[in-house]
Amino acid sequence: MIRVTKPGKLRLAVLASGRGSNFDALCRAVESGDLNAELRLLISDKKEALAIKKAKSRGIKPVYIEPAEFPNREEYEKTMVRILNDHNINMVALAGYMRLVGSTFLQAFNLRVVNIHPALLPSFTGLHAQKQALDYGVRYSGCTVHIVDAGMDTGPIIMQSVVPVYQDDTEESLSSRILVEEHKIYWRALQLFAEGRIFIDGHKVIIK
Ligand code: GRF
Repeated sequence: MIRVTKPGKLRLAVLASGRGSNFDALCRAVESGDLNAELRLLISDKKEALAIKKAKSRGIKPVYIEPAEFPNREEYEKTMVRILNDHNINMVALAGYMRLVGSTFLQAFNLRVVNIHPALLPSFTGLHAQKQALDYGVRYSGCTVHIVDAGMDTGPIIMQSVVPVYQDDTEESLSSRILVEEHKIYWRALQLFAEGRIFIDGHKVIIK
């Protein structure tokens, strides 16, 4: 069994491509003292990401890195890892970051990259998870915080929250119900890292 982090204030970076509501929720948890972290950086691969605006308005340094300017993913990720190391980051949270994370990144932050996904994994991985759940006809869905591995939404699960799915739900109504839960559990899962309580046993996360 491997202990992932020792107890202590996290030096956190968030990677986001879009709206940034989860980023915002993490900022609020840091500000209220619920999450023992210093949110040092917001990195985005999209120049127009609302998350960048949100970072600016909260006084958090936004960094925009254009993937198309690099010959391949490895070079792009090397640059990202260098920036994260320059800021002494020890924990990375993906929050609507619309890219697969490659081995360069994962090796640099082994077991310390987490993601939030709007479905109860391992069901409905990838894009449009809420629509997949609706189309399948499940009665319950929710969200999952997991450690990122090389697969798509396949890493060890830290925390999940469940919501009902109603027959008259639309993708929008289900997404908003799930989003409320996302905002509640993401910081809680990260706080477990700050408390040094996350251990890995094979594919399982053990919370001590
Ligand atoms: C969330 O639904 C999250 O679960 C998924 O992407 C969406 C990001 O939303 N990974 P936001 O940018 O945090 O508002």
